Amino acid sequence: MKIFLDTANVDEIKKVRDWGLLDGVTTNPSLAAKELAKGISFKELVAQILKETPGPVSVEVVATDYDGMLKQALRIGALADNAVVKIPMTLPGLKTIKTLTEKRIPVNCTLIFNPLQALFAAKAGAEYVSPFVGRLDDIGEDGMSIIDEIKTIFINYNIKTKILVASIRNPVHVLRSAIIGADVVTMPFEVVSKLTSHPKTDEGLKRFLDDWKKDFGDGDFPL
Ligand code: G3P
Repeated sequence: MKIFLDTANVDEIKKVRDWGLLDGVTTNPSLAAKELAKGISFKELVAQILKETPGPVSVEVVATDYDGMLKQALRIGALADNAVVKIPMTLPGLKTIKTLTEKRIPVNCTLIFNPLQALFAAKAGAEYVSPFVGRLDDIGEDGMSIIDEIKTIFINYNIKTKILVASIRNPVHVLRSAIIGADVVTMPFEVVSKLTSHPKTDEGLKRFLDDWKKDFGDGDFPL
């Protein structure tokens, strides 16, 4: 399972990359707006993210009609080899995905909230589908159950589109994604940090070091 960071913050990207965990990045207009408020231009921000990420970076269009989305998508696609165009799951979106796929520009179809939307995005040619599990949980639905259903549908029809689980809010979303066999999880920096720590790890490490210090104190490592 690939691990993507759901962020437009370059410092977070560098940290997770340097921990050896980063397979890619997903951004969206809300995440970008948070960074733009700090004074950087959108062009510069996207260029930095593409450069620092050792894998695919999803950049979302903000037009909603076919011509507008296609125009923006072609600009995104031309930026770098690792640029992936994020297109919303709408009818003009499907048409845009089809055109981009014919041009061999990879698409991540976003804002997916039921399994049939994922099937249709896949049929249009999307390389990734992004179901939003946290936002379904927010309205009292079980977000992860649609990941299960999408996985079954994709297996049934031998669909190669990758399931990219988005709107992840906690480590259990990540665990369930791995058990189902999702291709990618994209998560905020805070969830990555939570996943790497456990109180028993901290307790165990402290005990090892306390025992060691009884014999060797703080002296040089004796090897
Ligand atoms: O990038 C799309 C998705 O991951 C957004 O997550 O937490 O805003 O629902 P969230």
